[in-house]
Amino acid sequence: MNDLARHLADLIRARGPISVAHYMAEALGHPRWGYYMNRDPFGQRGDFVTAPEVSQMFGELIGLWCAAVWEAMGAPDPVHLVEIGPGRGTLMADALRAGATVPAFRAALRVHLIETSPFLRERQRRTLTGVGPIWHDSFEQVPRGPILVIANELFDALPVRQFQRAADGWHERLVDLDSADDRFRLVLAPTRCDGLVPPSLRNAPPGSVAEVCPAGLALIEALAARFDQDRGAALVIDYGVTETGPGETLQAVRAHARHDVFREPGAADICAHVDFAQLVAVLESKGVGIYGPIEQGRFLDNLGLRVRAAMLKRRAASEDALDVDRAVERLTGTDQMGRLFKVLAFADRATTEIPAFA
Ligand SMILES: C[S@@+](CC[C@H](N)C(=O)[O-])C[C@H]1O[C@@H](n2cnc3c(N)ncnc32)[C@H](O)[C@@H]1O
Repeated sequence: MNDLARHLADLIRARGPISVAHYMAEALGHPRWGYYMNRDPFGQRGDFVTAPEVSQMFGELIGLWCAAVWEAMGAPDPVHLVEIGPGRGTLMADALRAGATVPAFRAALRVHLIETSPFLRERQRRTLTGVGPIWHDSFEQVPRGPILVIANELFDALPVRQFQRAADGWHERLVDLDSADDRFRLVLAPTRCDGLVPPSLRNAPPGSVAEVCPAGLALIEALAARFDQDRGAALVIDYGVTETGPGETLQAVRAHARHDVFREPGAADICAHVDFAQLVAVLESKGVGIYGPIEQGRFLDNLGLRVRAAMLKRRAASEDALDVDRAVERLTGTDQMGRLFKVLAFADRATTEIPAFA
């Protein structure tokens, strides 16, 4: 057992089984041993590669998307540009460089980063030298005023609760300790909780599993509530589904390979597919303008990825030109990130010209 596993085992012995969301939150965010708290997990030498780390084109196109939405908002000055879960800060750096092609937009920007990891904050500080971002622990701390929000591969890292249909109805799955070998194992909570399961899944057959991400739904609600008061738009990009279905998607990844979720917590990334239908349901109840979700490949093509790629290739040596082609394929290929990743935008009711979703 590693330190975090021992800590969680002690907790379970003292207080009883914990929810899957509690386990996931500790595995990713425990202040000392949490996965994101003490490492840079990105890149070939890390555990996984995200779209901004595949190519500068990804962040650049998002920067131009923000500039266009800012114009649609009436070009407010100042405007808060907020990234939630910024990783290495690569997306923000690329977005700001592209955004500077619209000087009034760049001049109006106040950059805010919402990041829970002190280690990654330091990494972001180095990437964004000269930018002067302001860091926050949560979205609620971002000052009022016109706002643009970006979240790439954040929602998949927010803790999910799991429920399982037994013969008598739905029960929450909990993480317990097997007294025989001190390994974590899943058990079902004794009390029924059908009301916590998305209505469209309640009649799924016994054995079915449902996942709900309360932190993700709460964040979407907080963003939408802000757009009720201030002009603003948000862009959420993540891998996931557009229709709610039964099934468990919780997975752990280490060194680009699958890892057992319940072994060595804190040593591997843990994530779950984002259920965009559940996010959209919250937005519908909030009365904001909703755009998408559409597939990432289509979103990037609509924003002119191939034009940008051709520009980069004209200036590149032949090996670098091949890299550009590979990046386009990685970001848009239907068997790569192009189809599995979805893009959802939402905005205050008055901001209706949202590019790339036509
Ligand atoms: C999978 S990484 C994605 C990083 C970056 N957006 C990218 O695409 O390269 C998840 C990021 O979200 C951060 N994070 C995780 N939970 C968070 C939370 N509750 N609030 C803010 N950031 C969080 C992590 O520290 C990390 O920076």
